[in-house]
Amino acid sequence: MRFSTTVQAALTLAALAFGTVQAAIPIAKRQMESGHGTGTLTEPADGTTISSGATYDFEYHNGNGCESGYSPITVWILDTAPVFADLNTTGEFSPGNYLFSYGEYLIPNFGLPPMSSPTPPPATLELPELGIPSGDVFIAVVESLLDCPPDIPIEYGLTYNTISYEA
Ligand SMILES: *[C@@H]1O[C@H](CO)[C@@H](O)[C@H](O)[C@H]1NC(C)=O
Repeated sequence: MRFSTTVQAALTLAALAFGTVQAAIPIAKRQMESGHGTGTLTEPADGTTISSGATYDFEYHNGNGCESGYSPITVWILDTAPVFADLNTTGEFSPGNYLFSYGEYLIPNFGLPPMSSPTPPPATLELPELGIPSGDVFIAVVESLLDCPPDIPIEYGLTYNTISYEA
């Protein structure tokens, strides 16, 4: 998650510059769950059946609880229902804890221009061959909430829908 890491580094530097308590603590900080609400995953709707290789509609409404110019999100497929504690220190699911990662997208807010990298989330995504039998999988979106003073760590919001996967 390059964007967030950069932001986190900048914030760490800011903390060092201001000599705050955080500056004395080594980098390994626990991620913070958003106290500002989460976004909503409207597509694919909860309970949608999607076949491997199929293209499906994707629509996520970001919460943007801290009114950032841009909202970074990451999109994941998991075989168990995700909980916030599953996220590692960079707000991601660690290798082995997820089936597939679509990577990072950046949602522009307040009419700001879209970035070319990461791009805004596409209107459709493809469900890859997951290498598992048919059954429930979970499409999760993790939103980074930037600009949430006075918290130094980035806050994250997690939301997901259950999908019926057809191998
Ligand atoms: C967090 O998860 C990401 C994505 O799976 C991974 O690249 C990174 O190494 C993980 N970080 C830690 C500290 O485990």
